[in-house]
Amino acid sequence: LYVVHIAAEMAPVVKVGGLGDVVGGLCKELQRSGHLVEIILPKYDCMNYDRIKGLRALDAEMHSYFDGQLYNNKIWVGTVEGLPVYFIEPVHHGRLFRRGKIYGDHDDFKRFSFFSRAALEFLHQSGKKPDIIHCHDWHTAFVAPLYWDVFVPKGLNSARICFTCHNYEYQGTAPASELSSCGLDPHRLNKPDRLQDNKAHDRVNLVKGGIVFSNIVTTVSPTYAQQLQTMEDGQGLDSTIRSQSHKFFGILNGIDTDTWNPNTDAHLKAKYNASDLQGKSKNKDELRKKLGLSSTHPRMPLVGCVTRLVPHKGVSLIRHAIYRTLEMGGQFVLLGSSPIPEIQKEFENVARHFQYHDHVRLILTYDEPLSHLIYAASDMFVIPSIFEPCGLTPMIAMRYGAIPIARKTGGIKDSVFDVDDDKVPYELRNGFTFLKADEQGLDNALERAFKLYQGSHQSWDQLVQKDMNMDFSWKPSAEKFEELYCNAVGRAKRRNI
Ligand code: ADP
Ligand code: GLC
Repeated sequence: LYVVHIAAEMAPVVKVGGLGDVVGGLCKELQRSGHLVEIILPKYDCMNYDRIKGLRALDAEMHSYFDGQLYNNKIWVGTVEGLPVYFIEPVHHGRLFRRGKIYGDHDDFKRFSFFSRAALEFLHQSGKKPDIIHCHDWHTAFVAPLYWDVFVPKGLNSARICFTCHNYEYQGTAPASELSSCGLDPHRLNKPDRLQDNKAHDRVNLVKGGIVFSNIVTTVSPTYAQQLQTMEDGQGLDSTIRSQSHKFFGILNGIDTDTWNPNTDAHLKAKYNASDLQGKSKNKDELRKKLGLSSTHPRMPLVGCVTRLVPHKGVSLIRHAIYRTLEMGGQFVLLGSSPIPEIQKEFENVARHFQYHDHVRLILTYDEPLSHLIYAASDMFVIPSIFEPCGLTPMIAMRYGAIPIARKTGGIKDSVFDVDDDKVPYELRNGFTFLKADEQGLDNALERAFKLYQGSHQSWDQLVQKDMNMDFSWKPSAEKFEELYCNAVGRAKRRNI
């Protein structure tokens, strides 16, 4: 198959959270299975340019329509870990992707609508004939309605559309009139069975448009897929999803096991693997030294947390975990940053409070290399999410032998199983979980983890080894995508609405 992914992030060149990991990891695995895979991204100023090989601009500029005008775009092409990636740079709309950040500006809706349209223009004008166009999250959900409405009539009609929404909290809504910027007719498309937001009828909702207009719709775990179909957790889109359930699937993400490999990871002080854990304690020493934490007690458990600090990650429970860990005689390291100023400020206060403390450090920024060292150094890893579509951090933590202490919700229910839950087969039990999003639940899981850690070295190490040997690779999930792609190409002759 010829598969084109259109997205706002792709690790390792541009990543804010798990979306970047997924686009990079899934595309690599699909390529490994023999498919022709290409990715289209905006050309941001703030990318890891050193991870792009052979970056060059194509000779021909590509024009795309926006806001009643034609804009010229330079198309850059390069290779990222063996994958061909195209980067779109609007020439006269220069500041669109030169903001020093990926998201968080007042005109994000416009920026990513522009990009969605430009990506399809590029496919059309360069004569590409993909079998599958796979778009991700609200940023590129617009691709689905645009494809059928504007590009199929123009002759770009070889593809079936797959849309993956990684988090339904972010839906991309705007006044319906915004549709005309992209050349779409608001009167025709702002309808309940099309893009109209289910709550605010004068607004359009791009995630809804992605669901309605795609041939395949997926989300990032089976449990989240079920939760979304309930009124309680459906974020206002439950009825839309239920009405499209024939094409809606929950596929658990994997992780890129080359990037996340303690046996080869260049960011670590010492490499290690499940049969030789010595390197893990060297990384613990290294992290403590680097952050100025006391290392007089090597068997003092180190609890790590690497996260975006947004409400659904359970920020108050994260804060609670810091204090509870201290009370129980552990050390805590948090790496996180928040797009929400109040939350960032709140954690800055906590960080200041612990500035010179022997056992706690908060690093309130985004730092990829440090994140690797924290996974490797931690004995336990806290993920107290209020909801979690998939959650890659518990999988990464386990790969590095940091035992997850996690709230059972969404994808965590599909990947973390309590060591004391005898309803689950022993081979699958890999962490400490809790159900209610409250301090008691978290305390109970944390206390059980401390008890095992402080009780028996041997039992703890066995659990660490078991977690490190679990298979969180992309292979099984990529096979599911392959099957869906093939069915869509073989079966679907027309769009599903
Ligand atoms: P989400 O996508 O909701 O943020 P995931 O658990 O799916 O959550 O993925 C988060 C990804 O982002 C992981 O790769 C994690 O290591 C990374 N990450 C989150 N915060 C930071 C940070 N402050 N510094 C470095 N990496 C981070
Ligand atoms: C989103 C979700 C997270 C998921 C990630 C990758 O950011 O919040 O749970 O793991 O996307 O799909």
